[in-house]
Amino acid sequence: MSDLLQSVREGRLLHLTLNRPEKRNALNSALCRVLVDALDAAARDRFVGAILLSGNGKAFCAGMDLKETAGPCDLRQIDALHEHLFTVYTRLQKPLIGAIQGAALGGGMGLVSNCHIAVAAPDASFGLTEIRLGLWPFLVYRGVSAALGERRTLELALTGRTFSAAEAREAGLIHEVAADPLARALEIARGVAETSPAAIQGGLSFVQQVRGLDWTRAGAVARKVREEAFGSEDVAEGIRAFLEKRPPRWPSLKESMP
Ligand code: COA
Repeated sequence: MSDLLQSVREGRLLHLTLNRPEKRNALNSALCRVLVDALDAAARDRFVGAILLSGNGKAFCAGMDLKETAGPCDLRQIDALHEHLFTVYTRLQKPLIGAIQGAALGGGMGLVSNCHIAVAAPDASFGLTEIRLGLWPFLVYRGVSAALGERRTLELALTGRTFSAAEAREAGLIHEVAADPLARALEIARGVAETSPAAIQGGLSFVQQVRGLDWTRAGAVARKVREEAFGSEDVAEGIRAFLEKRPPRWPSLKESMP
């Protein structure tokens, strides 16, 4: 693992930390590459139950590395990495939980919108600031739209204004504001990592399958996967544990222990 990204395992929790604080964790291609690789590896690893994403230093992430893209670079390769990174929520079937401090701008906000759950510090700031650079947030637009809705995303992309953690929460970009976002996100991630892996994977797979489908087709998918879920050992154990008034011991969790 490169110094640009720290990776720590704690049981079923994988904690990834953007580690380019002197450049406010701006996403140069090297950092994008290691982050994409780490997320892909985590997606394949059955021992990973949840992923926590945070950033070192004053900012969570200042977005695309403007110095790199201003110089001679392989824009196609950078675009491919960004496309992969900013659509991770369409593939990843493990909960991705973000802890946000300082600024999350441009691609940094794109990363936040790809987190399934996000917690931010009271003084965190957000924005699709690309327009100030004469750009449009092309690759992060879908992820942010999925989180905030198209009307709000359009307004943010057109104005390039930055906004507060309180507004981000009200808009649904983040779920909580906490004085210590890392500690709170860690608490959430640890809890999620202890839930039924089969239910989480099946649930996120369902969410990905029905995105963009009309209600009737989405209903057909829901009925099919629900029927499958009811035949699973985890659901049998979950219901048994409820009736016996004890905590569940998920069979799929046992299979997911190293
Ligand atoms: N790309 C490349 N370098 C960046 C960067 C980016 N997106 N954002 C910050 N940096 C670099 C700065 O150039 C500076 O480098 P230097 O020390 O070599 O001069 C260093 O990070 C610190 O930046 P600075 O602006 O002094 O930090 P700050 O704490 O005062 O402000 C930000 C932090 C994130 C608010 C500010 O850096 C910023 O607005 N960055 C641009 C964000 C942006 O427009 N992103 C969209 C990209 S499409």
